[in-house]
This record gives sequence, C-alpha cells and structure tokens, in this order.
Amino acid sequence: MPDADIGVVGLAVMGQSLALNMNDHGFRVAVFNRTTAKVDAFLAGPAAGTRIVGHHALPHLVATLARPRRILMMVRAGSAVDDLIGEITPLLDAGDCLIDGGNSHFRDTERRTRALAARGIHYVGAGISGGEDGARHGPSIMPGGDPLAWPLIRELFQGIAARVDGVPCCDWIGEGGAGHYVKMVHNGIEYGDMQLIAEAYLLLRAGLGLTVDEVQAVFADWDKGVLSSYLIEITAQILAVRDDDGAPLIDKVLDRADQKGTGSWTAIEALELGVPAPLIGEAVFARSLSAMKDERIRASTCLPAGPLTFGIEPQRFIERIHDALYAAKICSYAQGFLLLREAANNYGWQLDLGGIALMWRGGCIIRSRFLDDIKAAYDETPEPESLLQQEFFRDELARTLPRWRKTVAMAVGLGLPVPALTSALAFYDGYRRADLSANLIQAQRDHFGAHTYERTDRPRGEAFHTDWGRGRQGGDLG
Ligand code: 6PG
Repeated sequence: MPDADIGVVGLAVMGQSLALNMNDHGFRVAVFNRTTAKVDAFLAGPAAGTRIVGHHALPHLVATLARPRRILMMVRAGSAVDDLIGEITPLLDAGDCLIDGGNSHFRDTERRTRALAARGIHYVGAGISGGEDGARHGPSIMPGGDPLAWPLIRELFQGIAARVDGVPCCDWIGEGGAGHYVKMVHNGIEYGDMQLIAEAYLLLRAGLGLTVDEVQAVFADWDKGVLSSYLIEITAQILAVRDDDGAPLIDKVLDRADQKGTGSWTAIEALELGVPAPLIGEAVFARSLSAMKDERIRASTCLPAGPLTFGIEPQRFIERIHDALYAAKICSYAQGFLLLREAANNYGWQLDLGGIALMWRGGCIIRSRFLDDIKAAYDETPEPESLLQQEFFRDELARTLPRWRKTVAMAVGLGLPVPALTSALAFYDGYRRADLSANLIQAQRDHFGAHTYERTDRPRGEAFHTDWGRGRQGGDLG
C-alpha cells in the first residue's frame, strides 16, 4: 500500500541527513541506495527507531510512494543524475515530481526540466546548502524548475528548512535552472568569503606574527560584530583544535585547497555574462595556485621577495584587517548580486534578490548577520543598481575604506598575497570612478582593427573610426 510522502535516492551523508530531517518533521520517508548494504546500514544505524522504510530496488521504492509521487535524488552531479533519471522515469506517471538536490550545473537542470516536462513529470533542481549538519537540522533550500512542482513540495521543503525569525530559508526561486543557478552563486560567494578569511588569517599570522591562539581570539571576537557569520565562527573553532601532541592542528594541514567546480562555474558565468565579479575569480585562482604546492616549494627557494617594509602597532593592524575584510565582503556580495541581476535579465527569471538574501540568512554556509543588512537594503530600495550604491553599504564603505587601503598597502609592502582583498579594492575604485582608461583600449582596438569608438562629445551609439597611424579621423560609421 502506497504510504510514503517522499522517496530519497542516494544515501551518502546529505541523503541520510535529509531523510532523517524529514522524518523528524513527520514526513514518511522511503529510501533507496544503489549499494544496498548502505540501506541496511542506515536503517540499522542512524535511522533505527524512525519511521523510515528502506528498499533494495527502485521499483519497490516507487511503488510505496503516495501520488503524485515525490522523489529526491541525492547523487553526485553529472552523468550519475542522467543515469538515475533514465532509470526512474519509466517508473513514474505524469504529474509526479522528481527533484535533484545535488550541486548540478544549472544548464543540465534546464535541459532535464524541459525533457521531463515533455513527459508530464515535474522536475526540480534544488540547491541545498549547509553541509551535513544543515541537511540534518535545517538547510537553506533553493528550488527551481517546473513551477507546477512547487505546490507539491512546498510544505515539505519549507518544513525541513532552517528558519530565521520564523521565516523558512526556502522559497521558490524560478523556472528552469534558476534554483541551481542561485546555489551556484551562493557557492561562488562562499569561495570569496573563505578566501577573504584565509587572507586575513595570513596577515595576522605571517604579517603580524600572532600565534594560532592569538588569531583564534581575534576571530572569536570578530564573530561578535558585523562579521558575525558561520564561516568566521567555524574558523575560530578550527583554530582552537589541537593535535595529539598539543600543537595547533591547523599548522599540520597542508595548504592546498581542493575544489569541486561550483566556484569556477560562477566565475565562468560572470565572464560569459560580462559581469565584473573578480573577487570570485580570484578566490578560484587562489585555490588553483595553492594546489601547485610542490612547485611553490621549489619557487620559494629561488624567487626573492624584494625589499619589504613593516612597522605598525598590532592593535591598529588587527582593526585594519577587520575593516578590510568587512569592506571586501561588501564588494564580494555586491558582485554576486550583480551576477544574479544580470542572470535574471539574461535568462528571463524573476529573481527576488531580497528574498534570496532571506533564504541565505540561515542554514547555508554563507549565513551571517550581514545578510539581514542586504535584505534591509533591498526592502529600502527594491532595485538598486548595486548594493554599493545603497545608503547603508555606502556609509559602511566610507567608514572602512581608509583602513582597507592601508591593509592592502601593508600586505603589498610585506610581500603577502591577498588577491581577494586587493581585487575587491580595485573593483571598488573602478566602480566608483566615472572615468577609467578604457578610452585608450578602445582607441587601440580601433587602431589595429577598425573596431570604431564612441565620442564623449557626441550622442552614445554613434560609431567613429580614425586612421590613427596617419592621425586622420573618419566620420560616423553607424
Ligand atoms: C554548501 C556547500 C557545498 C559544497 C562544499 C564543497 O552550500 O553546503 O557549498 O555545496 O559542495 O562547500 O565545495 P568545494 O569542494 O568546491 O569547495
């Protein structure tokens, strides 16, 4: 007899945690995993004593689902999702709902949503953030895809999502790949936050010469103020952990950062849409540079740093780093939201940017006090050109700018690489200037390729060409 509210396919850590979370909220959950021993181990272990029912074959799981059926796939992004869709869809009927809760690329989700809509199956690509703990106790969920699916999954998703001030960190994002797109940008911002924190850590350790314990105290203190966030909090936790010999464990972790791809997808998207989001790109490249560990070790023995400067009292230095981190973070989020705005225009999505900030306030990796300020900014000015121009952030930047500049200058003087802090400042300085030097680039393009240019003293849209080598100017070519 069909009696399960939802089927979960894939019992890696996220699938298990979500199944347990749904069970806690009163939903009847059926689970399946290709390696069936995992089903048994789950039922005998974490799911013991719950109402969760396990199956050793997909058709058995599908047969126990109440209609319209709802199935959540929690498998590795890529071809495994297509393979699973190929196995599940013959077992489904029109009106059923299939959800991909992994980190799939939004273009795959677009394609799958279209293909399944043709068969009457409502497909959803749901970004789910928060790692194991979030999935277990309340993640941030970003669902998009076939809008007809939303009424079928709303209660369930909003029921298990994190809540902040009673508001669930889950709402419908938009059609097609919109949900996975927003999750991708979340991850790009996550990369930026992590890189900025790592740069602050470098300045405190290598620049100021603080011990791990001293840096731990700085981060614990920062977590009480405007930087209060999950990532700052776990940084303080990490720095407090000791190895068996009593030494800080962080010093024994190899400085080589991996990546699974969502950060570079965000940077590629920004490049493709022509949106300036350099901080996310820097964060991805910094991980790539970190991965060249052996080469860096060799280079460290032969490349000089050149003359370095240092001279500042510790407390002022810490305050400067704090403000630099905060100001760069404002720019990073402004870049992420610029990308979302452009994506909405480009892909025809009605993205509620303030609503997305709300969804990220709890459950997810980038959750922070700061997202309340972003939400408030969107409430005040629903469509600001950029968060940077919104009054609150404008004032915060004005306040923190002097220390940010000094921090970057100090880091350069010390020979310490802080690409995200530096790039964010260059972005800010570029964004706030009415005049840049792109006129010279445009003239060069016209010189070697007759690509034409617009003039400052003529209406926009008129194209001019000059024979620069001979110093002769052509007329309007438009
Ligand atoms: C989340 C995270 C998660 C991501 C990990 C690892 O929101 O819960 O973004 O989805 O997979 O952070 O990502 P990288 O391996 O690329 O660092």
